[in-house]
Amino acid sequence: MLSYHHSFHAGNHADVLKHSVQSLIIESLKEKEKPFFYLDTHSGEGRYQLRSEHSERTGEYQKGIGLLWQRNDLPEELASYMSVVYNFNRSGTLRYYPGSPLIARQLLRPQDKIYLSELHPSDFPLLRSEFQKDKRAKVQRANGYQQLKSQLPPPSRRGLILIDPPYEIKTDYQEVVKGIQEGYKRFATGSYALWYPVVIRQQIKRMLKELEATGIRRILQIELAVKPDSDQRGMTASGMIVINPPWKLGQQMHTLLPWLHNALVPSGIGHYLVNWVVPE
Ligand SMILES: C[S@@+](CC[C@H](N)C(=O)[O-])C[C@H]1O[C@@H](n2cnc3c(N)ncnc32)[C@H](O)[C@@H]1O
Repeated sequence: MLSYHHSFHAGNHADVLKHSVQSLIIESLKEKEKPFFYLDTHSGEGRYQLRSEHSERTGEYQKGIGLLWQRNDLPEELASYMSVVYNFNRSGTLRYYPGSPLIARQLLRPQDKIYLSELHPSDFPLLRSEFQKDKRAKVQRANGYQQLKSQLPPPSRRGLILIDPPYEIKTDYQEVVKGIQEGYKRFATGSYALWYPVVIRQQIKRMLKELEATGIRRILQIELAVKPDSDQRGMTASGMIVINPPWKLGQQMHTLLPWLHNALVPSGIGHYLVNWVVPE
């Protein structure tokens, strides 16, 4: 189908949550000198212009990164993520938003490897051109779910796999579980970070049940809701399911989420949570 364009949503509250978790996991992996591997199964185009017609039409970034941009009381859990955002906007005006591949590009070290896949015919060339000169990176127009079979395990045997589908087709909710199972069979020690939107709560409950049924352990759920659950159209919350999270991540999110919720939703509606779906 491929009608989804992340450019409408870049920098929204869901990206803030996703990319701060992504950055924290990368920083933990960097605590050891040993190289690691970063796989982004659904990469997007990489760089987003916040003054573009798409961004301005929804205005979503204004209720996401736009609310953090000028705060001078950021918690240290946001330091790594925000350093990338600042680097893209050195003029001091918020114009660009780095997608997950460019966050990885800035945070990873020379010894690490980046593997990116994106299927969209117009997003893929943009992504590829961002990485043309990056010797650490391999960028392919390929199905992200297939990469969970073909790219794992990585030679370094350490890594983060970010799975961030658009969920424009309902089968994505089952595909992600199957994909994780396939990946985990090959690379059980990797960290897997799956993003999900809460549109219909029942879909998420079902997905979590299916994940539990795989027998995989150490599954952490992180969620930030900007509205209460609803039967109406539209995303009310988003979350990250992290398998094999770094040991500090739960505590970091316990500190970060109340701050983030307050910054993004000053009215206090919605909720946040950090919860083991399956513990050790
Ligand atoms: C939510 S966006 C990715 C955003 C990106 N990860 C970020 O955080 O900046 C999802 C992307 O997946 C792409 N896509 C959809 N189905 C795919 C598939 N089966 N394999 C790879 N990419 C796919 C879409 O074209 C879209 O660009």
